[in-house]
Amino acid sequence: MTILVTGGAGYIGSHTVVSLLDAGFDVVVLDNLCNGSAESLSRVASITAKAPVFIEGDIRDSVCLSDLFSRYDIGAVIHFAGLKAVGESVLKPLDYYETNVGGTITLLKAMQSAGVHKMVFSSSATVYGLEAPTPYEETQPRGTTSNPYGSSKAMVERLLEDWTQAVPEASVVLLRYFNPIGAHESGLIGEDPQGIPNNLMPFMAQVAVGRRDKLSVFGGDYPTPDGTCRRDYLHVMDLAEGHVSALSSLEQPGVRAFNLGTGAPVSVLEMIRAFESQTGVQIPFEIVARRAGDLPEFWANPEKAQRGLGWFAKRDLDAMMVDTWRWQSNNPEGY
Ligand SMILES: NC(=O)c1ccc[n+]([C@@H]2O[C@H](COP(=O)([O-])OP(=O)(O)OC[C@H]3O[C@@H](n4cnc5c(N)ncnc54)[C@H](O)[C@@H]3O)[C@@H](O)[C@H]2O)c1
Repeated sequence: MTILVTGGAGYIGSHTVVSLLDAGFDVVVLDNLCNGSAESLSRVASITAKAPVFIEGDIRDSVCLSDLFSRYDIGAVIHFAGLKAVGESVLKPLDYYETNVGGTITLLKAMQSAGVHKMVFSSSATVYGLEAPTPYEETQPRGTTSNPYGSSKAMVERLLEDWTQAVPEASVVLLRYFNPIGAHESGLIGEDPQGIPNNLMPFMAQVAVGRRDKLSVFGGDYPTPDGTCRRDYLHVMDLAEGHVSALSSLEQPGVRAFNLGTGAPVSVLEMIRAFESQTGVQIPFEIVARRAGDLPEFWANPEKAQRGLGWFAKRDLDAMMVDTWRWQSNNPEGY
């Protein structure tokens, strides 16, 4: 079967393309390269000894999409393409809604015209909102989101629910990611943020490799065991494999949501210690003021994904650190 992977030249997308090719799927990647790299796909080809088809194009471009669906016999779509920087979404809400919501509508229309009704969507733990009790469970309703990025994910979940109501053969899996980190064990592909990284792990890796002086830890006075924020970090290859598992559940019509996380929260200070002990590299850091909008802690209850998809996170925190460092130290400037 051929899978269309939108955003497949990005961080999670490129790792998922490896898992798909390894599992025997054919892959067509559609990416406009606004935050991805064609080089990542060349490296995917060296890892798997198979090349995905790459189309440089935009999910908002209906002509490009209808051409793509007429040329390739797509069985299902894994939809990663989107804008993902929370802070930027506050400054550029229209861009975020246009790409994340508008782009998904354009994609769904093209899928529908081509008779393709299966989608795995990249959602996020952020849809649980600001007040949800942790661990987050799929039975909890979506909550109040605090920025346009989070709202766009919640809106797309809602529109996919409406789409599956209207189209009886439609089948959608919403994967709610927690905090993906790490890199493929080859060290050939990994996270390569443009500009200043927004997230802890790529920032720490850039400090370790000498691209940045020190790590700012936002807030040391949270109501958590060591005062720093706690998150549910999972290895990006575990996350990638979750998409392969999700594809097999698309035989069933309707919409289903699954948390993809480990279920174990880790604090910022624990992350620093784990990185230092696995790599031998010291991370200079400074505790600074809290960052607006950060929740003290949240993590997944991942049991539904184990029951429904047969998926659970297999790689531990040490592997996440070792693999991040292999990628970053072999590619100090990224791709
Ligand atoms: N990384 C995380 O922590 C995280 C957490 C939860 C959800 N997600 C979601 O997972 C998805 C993938 O995230 P990622 O970390 O790999 O991000 P990424 O930015 O590395 O990948 C997204 C890819 O989509 C492409 N893209 C963006 N707009 C496009 C458009 N209009 N048309 C075609 N391609 C376009 C980019 O060039 C990029 O290659 C995103 O939807 C993101 O919101 C990510």
